[in-house]
Amino acid sequence: MKILVVGGGGREHALVWKIAQSPLVARVWCAPGNPGIAQLAECVDIAADDLEGLLTFAVEQDIDLTVVGPEAPLTLGIVDRFRAAGLTIFGPTQAAARLEGSKGFSKDLMAKYGIPTAAYRRFSDRDEAVAYIRAQGAPIVVKADGLAAGKGVVVATGIDEAVAAVDAIMVDGAFGAAGAEVVVEEFMDGEEASFFVFTDGTNILPLASAQDHKRIFDGDRGPNTGGMGAYSPAPVVTAEIHRKILETIVRPTIVGMAREGCPYAGILYVGLMIAQGKARVVEYNARFGDPEAQPLIMRLKSDIVPVLLGCARGEMRQTELEWHDKAAVCVVMASGGYPGPYEKGFAISGLDEAAKIEDLFVFHAGTAARDGQIVNTGGRVLGVTGLGATVAEAIAKAYQGVERISWQGARYRRDIGRKALNRNV
Ligand code: AMP
Ligand code: GLY
Repeated sequence: MKILVVGGGGREHALVWKIAQSPLVARVWCAPGNPGIAQLAECVDIAADDLEGLLTFAVEQDIDLTVVGPEAPLTLGIVDRFRAAGLTIFGPTQAAARLEGSKGFSKDLMAKYGIPTAAYRRFSDRDEAVAYIRAQGAPIVVKADGLAAGKGVVVATGIDEAVAAVDAIMVDGAFGAAGAEVVVEEFMDGEEASFFVFTDGTNILPLASAQDHKRIFDGDRGPNTGGMGAYSPAPVVTAEIHRKILETIVRPTIVGMAREGCPYAGILYVGLMIAQGKARVVEYNARFGDPEAQPLIMRLKSDIVPVLLGCARGEMRQTELEWHDKAAVCVVMASGGYPGPYEKGFAISGLDEAAKIEDLFVFHAGTAARDGQIVNTGGRVLGVTGLGATVAEAIAKAYQGVERISWQGARYRRDIGRKALNRNV
């Protein structure tokens, strides 16, 4: 088979790494890819949101399966375009990707199908949103309706902060059209986890549990990021909670989407808040998590290609995935200053040293090749991912890799995975 992976981050590097190992696969391309991916696949210089360019390439190369990594092409309708051209593609349609692309849509779906989540109201009028916030009190959460690159959510500890968030989104237009509407919702306390299932629109195949670290600083302090590290399995998702998530959240979501006339196929990412043995939805994403994909895929024993193909064709037959017994921990190394402005173009050293370490893999995200060197070009630069018999051993392995690698200003959290240890698992 000939496979095209769309995207160029750590998540796509992990997907390509796994897909390339499948005996079903003859050639793998990645658009646009990155220097790490280039060691495993042929990178083509087409942007992930250039639907026209991607379609032309897929038709020309007679691609058997296209796998979409990031949300932008999904919400732009890449799946609809490819299907209309008779191509097989993994991911939700534009209508189904609204689960991620519109917070209002996803909250209304949850309300209609009784899926546990924070109480909320939608507003397209600034004054009404402010009046509601004043009546509810703080803490309270304000979200731009549309995609805002992970920056459209403000968890406000005071009323003034919440009102300022509404003004930034609706009056100042901080996120453009994505902020024409806001969702104001109840603050939920608890521990977050990321839950993923493969689905063909009807059948559901859950992945192992995982947990992300969204804040930039140790101890979950500082501003939100795309994710500074992840591990799997996540002990907060006990067997009982896993069962409840499938029954009370995942199944009604998939059934609800089908009933609404927009069946959801692809990978569904449910962001959860877990407290007192109950899980509630924080948000849905229409794609794999990044960095969660990195530890999850390193633990996955089953061939991923038949699963991706089954979801894309609407006939997934697998009922179980096989996992390595080992735990996996991914530590993200980011550019100095991230998630704020940062300097690019510094040479990265130690990648060859890290490559010699057993049970360790360094996934590339924001890197580029320049004058025979690898340099940082993005916020999140590398996902250093280690395997170990326990989470503690996987943490030690990942940091062994991190210590070998450096560039000017590189930053990373030193406490990735500690939450799992605090539970004594
Ligand atoms: P989202 O983009 O919806 O995932 O929100 C980003 C982050 O904001 C989440 O990962 C949570 O840490 C936090 N968050 C979002 N909604 C809530 C909520 N209702 N209560 C508490 N924290 C929230
Ligand atoms: N790790 C968070 C995300 O992929 O959105």
